[in-house]
Amino acid sequence: MKSRTLVGTFAGLALLGTVTTANADLELAKKAGCMACHAVDKKVVGPAWKDVAAKYKGDAAAKATLIEKVKKGGKGNWTDVTGGVPMPPYSPRVADADIEKLVDYIFTL
Ligand code: HEC
Repeated sequence: MKSRTLVGTFAGLALLGTVTTANADLELAKKAGCMACHAVDKKVVGPAWKDVAAKYKGDAAAKATLIEKVKKGGKGNWTDVTGGVPMPPYSPRVADADIEKLVDYIFTL
């Protein structure tokens, strides 16, 4: 019983991985509450995630910086866009592995 459920879960995850990685990441972002303030391609309260990706493109250290930012929150990098509203801290509300997934996703945009 248990192993059948597991096989089913893995098959489902594999399918998600190949077909809809981006959608799954977007679902994760919605669940985590990010989309209350962010959209992929327009400013809401926080900057558009496409703009975030563009800003840090080619910056090898950026991934770690952004993971820290999502974990601990912060402000000051987008003041001209947001008027100085801070990004709230998400750790430990959102698991570290999920935060990393979200930042990876933002970099694909
Ligand atoms: C309450 C509104 C709000 C929510 C919810 C929110 N953000 Fe933000 N986010 C902001 C604001 C405002 C900024 C700009 C902060 C700044 O000026 O440095 C920001 C900035 C960012 C940045 C860029 C950081 C930088 O230093 O350039 C990333 C990446 C980000 N958010 C990811 C996320 C993720 C992932 C989530 C969900 C786990 C999330 N945000 C949820 C408001 C929010």
